[in-house]
This record gives sequence, structure tokens and C-alpha cells, in this order.
Amino acid sequence: MGKRKIAVLPGDGIGKEVARGAVEILKAVGEQFHHEFQFSYGLIGGEAIDVEGSPLPQDTVSLCQNVDAVLLGAVGGPKWDENPPQLRPEKGLLQIRKSLNLFANIRPVSSHSSLSDSSPLKKEIIENVDFVIVRELTGGLYFGKPSGRSVENGEEFVVDTLYYKREEMRRILTTAFELAMSRNKKVTSVDKANVLESSKMWREVAVELSKEYKEVTLEHMLVDNAAMQLIRNPRQFDVIVTENMFGDILSDEASMIVGSLGMLPSASLSTSGPNLYEPIHGSAPDIAGKEIANPIAMILSASMMLKHSFNMVEEAEAIEKAVDSVLAAGYRTADVQQFGKRTVSTTEMVELVKAALAEDNAITNIMSAYA
Ligand code: IPM
Ligand code: MN
Repeated sequence: MGKRKIAVLPGDGIGKEVARGAVEILKAVGEQFHHEFQFSYGLIGGEAIDVEGSPLPQDTVSLCQNVDAVLLGAVGGPKWDENPPQLRPEKGLLQIRKSLNLFANIRPVSSHSSLSDSSPLKKEIIENVDFVIVRELTGGLYFGKPSGRSVENGEEFVVDTLYYKREEMRRILTTAFELAMSRNKKVTSVDKANVLESSKMWREVAVELSKEYKEVTLEHMLVDNAAMQLIRNPRQFDVIVTENMFGDILSDEASMIVGSLGMLPSASLSTSGPNLYEPIHGSAPDIAGKEIANPIAMILSASMMLKHSFNMVEEAEAIEKAVDSVLAAGYRTADVQQFGKRTVSTTEMVELVKAALAEDNAITNIMSAYA
């Protein structure tokens, strides 16, 4: 198997720390499983504004277009908060999603039994939760035009637009149905059809598509109710599919089922070209540089990359298993800190996962020697 080219865009704040950790893990996996990963680095977000005068320099886009997959840390920080809209770090993130046509953002939410005390929710609520949020990522409220401020008859006003082509709804809903076919065959389509015109069309398309996926149970849920149901009984979900901003909000909420925003990975998929992998959390400027960020969301994003982009299923599962065993052994970063558990730094957590990977390999080797 040839060399795999990976673009790394660490971004700002803890993005840098966690991206470094994920690269370390990938290097370890590469050695262990004899794969050649080639990493090249690009600027995005605040740092790119400072260095290149743009949150997404053309060099970064070209870099991403010429690799097999992209790993992204996070963008943003107080330094750029007062910048005009086009010069905000977040614009870089939105533009890279758009340029690579990454319309399907996959955000798996599954509880780790050893973390059950880190969630603010009761154990019996979060036990065995396992669902996936499919968030539309290149349309909806984030991208609709017009968007901006103006003055009309001496009065200031502001507008944001929720715009979708029917086809854009169809492709994201298709992604959800396809995913459900490989899981528990249930799709919960989340919308606000009692108010929004866009949601009415969304429902129509969902119903139309469900005729092609007869084995899949389709249910519709209003977004406010979905926010409540996620806390009341998260086990009811298999695949949740929803508009860009609804998905953004619900996935942060869902991270509390697992215990921390620092635990949730994501994959952003297109139908052509490289996919992008990033944690669902942001750049957390308040804890940046302190070596206390949880690298697990980023490490698990790298594992999703191995599975989805490179079809390295065994390798991806080895990472998941290593993470689980480190948590089970009682090691925690500060965000999931717990009485009686050992609190470790970002770097220590990465080292522990690496050690767990190596150990598992040692065990496998011993086993095969006896086979
Ligand atoms: C996320 C983030 C981004 C988003 C921000 C940083 C623009 O919150 O990936 O969930 O809203 O998509
Ligand atoms: Mn978000």
C-alpha cells in the first residue's frame, strides 16, 4: 500500500496541542502497522490572519486539495473577536468546509462506561448510549445570503438566511439513511416544521427518501423537543439528521452524555476529494497553552480518518481500544477529572494512549507466537 498524504491544520488555541497529539498517535500506528503517513502543515484561522492576512490562505486550500485526508484542530480566539466578518478565524473553517464540499458532518456519540461519573447526567440515563448526529455542514443558516447589517429608513437591521436547495437536503438525508442501514435502522430527522418553511421541505424530502429505505424507521422530531429528549432518554436515538446550526447546538449538548466536549470526534465527508477530521470542540482559548486540554476528541478524529478515508479498520479500532483502556485504567485530563482518578496533562494522555497501543501489539504478538 502506498504512502498516505495527510494535511494537518492545527489552527489556534488548544487546536495546536491536540493536533500534535493526534499526529504522534498516527505516527505510532504507522510504525506498528507498517503504513507510511506523510504529514504536511497548513495555516488556518487566527494564525493565518496574522501571518497571511486571510483566515484561509489559498496555499492551505491547494494543500488540502492535494492530500488524501485533512486533520484539523480548532480555530478562534479573543484576539480576533472584534475583526470584521471576513477576517474572523471561524470564516476560515467555514470556507474550508465549503471549498472541499464537506456537506456531511458525522458526529458519533457513545458513552464510555469508565467515564459515567464524569457526566452530569444519571448513570442509568447515559448507559449504553450509541447514536450518530449527521449534521449538514455546507448550507443552511451558516451560509445563506443575504447575511449582514444594514440601515433602512434610518433604522438599523440585521439579517441571516436559511437557504437550501432541495438536492442539498436530499444528499444529507441520503447519508443518514445509508448510515442507518449499517446500524440500527432508525433515522430521527430533526427540524422546526411547525414554524420554518425550510423544515417543511426537509420533512417532505425525508418522507420521499424513506420510500427507498423501507427497512429504516423514519421519525420526525422538532428541534426543541430533540434538545429535551437527548437529556431525557438518549438511548432512543440511532441516527439523528439535521440542519447545520441545529446540529451544531445539539452536538455540544450531546457531549454531556459522554462527559466532556473534549471527547467527541467528527468526520466531515464529501463525495469527491479528501475528507476532513476534526474534534467537535473549539479552540478553548481560556485553557490554551496550559497542557490541560483533552486530546481524546482529536485522537478519535484521527481514528475516524483511518477508518473512513483509508479503510484501516483494525488500526482505527486499535486506537479506540487504547483510549478505552487508558480511561479504564483511571487516567483523566482535567475536563473529566474525578475523585480517586489520576489527573494527567495533554502530553501525558497522548503518551499513555501510545503506550496502550504498543502494549496491545505486544499482546497480539505473544498470542500469534502461540497460534
Ligand atoms: C463546530 C464549531 C464551529 C461551527 C465554529 C467554530 C464555527 O462550533 O465545529 O461545531 O459552528 O461549526
Ligand atoms: Mn460547535
